Amino acid sequence: MTAEPRFPKYDMDAILGGRRMRRNRRADWSRRLVRETVLTVDDLIWPIFLVDGDHVRQGVPSMPGVERLSVDQAVVEAEKAAALGIPAIALFPFTEPSLRDPTGSESLNPDNLVCRACRAIKAAVPEIGIICDVALDPYTSHGHDGVMEGSTILNDESVALLAQQALNQAEAGADIIAPSDMMDGRVAAIRETLDIAGLSDVQIMAYAAKYASAFYGPFRDAIGTSKTLTGDKRTYQMDFGNSDEALREIELDIAEGADMIMVKPGMPYLDIIRRAKDAFAMPTFAYQVSGEYAMIRAAERNGWIDGERAMVESLWAFKRAGADGILTYFAPFVAPLLKR
Ligand code: PBG
Repeated sequence: MTAEPRFPKYDMDAILGGRRMRRNRRADWSRRLVRETVLTVDDLIWPIFLVDGDHVRQGVPSMPGVERLSVDQAVVEAEKAAALGIPAIALFPFTEPSLRDPTGSESLNPDNLVCRACRAIKAAVPEIGIICDVALDPYTSHGHDGVMEGSTILNDESVALLAQQALNQAEAGADIIAPSDMMDGRVAAIRETLDIAGLSDVQIMAYAAKYASAFYGPFRDAIGTSKTLTGDKRTYQMDFGNSDEALREIELDIAEGADMIMVKPGMPYLDIIRRAKDAFAMPTFAYQVSGEYAMIRAAERNGWIDGERAMVESLWAFKRAGADGILTYFAPFVAPLLKR
C-alpha cells in the first residue's frame, strides 16, 4: 500500500508576498526578453594549429574535431571563418623537431610556418584578424617559453628574443601580437620594438594572467611539446591559488602598453575574469584552453553530456563573467548556431 502524497496548505502568497521569480521564465519570448548577456560570433577567436606541408590535415587525438593544417588548408579555414563572421583567428605552429634548438631560433626566421601562414591568410582573407602567439615553446628543444641557463628560465634574455619574435610576426602581417610567455617586462619591450619599427598600429593582447595549468595538456600534444618539455612552467606561469596577484600582473601589462588583456585558462578562472573586468574595464578575453575543450568532447563522445549544449553554455559563462570575447576551439562549431 503506497501512501497518498500530502500537500500541506502553506500560505504561499503570504510567504512570497507576490514575488515569484518564475514568472519571467514561463515562456521562451520572456526568457529571451530578460536575458542579461548574449553570445554572438563577434565574441569568438578561433585558435588554429599549423603544420608543414601541402594539403595536410592531421587530427589531434586528444582534441577530437581539431586538426593541424598546412598553410593552404589554413587559408581555406580562414575563408570559412570569415564567412561565418568570426572576427579573428590565432595561429600556433607545430615545428618540425629538426628545427628546434635551445634558443628557439626558428622563431626569428621570417619564413617560418607562422609567418608563411600570416602572409597567405592576409593575401587571401584580408578581412579577418590574425593573432600570433609570442613564446618560444614551439621552437625550443626543451619546450620552455624562454631561454635557459641550467634549469633556470632567464627573464631578460628571453624578453629580448620574444620582442624580436613579435617583430618578425608583425612584419609578416600579424594584426595582434599575443605574448603568452609570462616573462616580466615583455609587453613593454614588444611595444617599444614595434613602435621603433613603425608598427605602432599592431595591437597587443597580453596573456596577462596565465596560470601554470594541467589544462594545457592537449595543446602540448598539438604543437608537439608534451614529450620534450623538461620540468614544468611554475617559475613563470602563475600559481592557481592566487587572484590578487592576477590583478597585479594585469595592471603591469596595461601600464606597459597592452591594448587587451586575457585570462587563461578559462572556465576554472571565471572569478579572475570578473575581477579583472571590474577593476580595469579593459577589453578582456578568456582562453577556453585545450583541456577544457577535450573534457567536453570526451564526455560528449561517451554519451555523458549533450556536447552542443555544454559548448554553448560554457561559452555563455565567459560573457556572464565579463569577458568581451573568447579564444575557443569550438569557434567553427558554435558560430553557425549564433546570431551575427
Ligand atoms: C604557449 C602556449 C600554451 C597555450 C597557449 N600558448 C601552452 C603552455 O603555456 O604550455 C595553451 C593553450 C591551450 O591549452 O589551448 N606558451
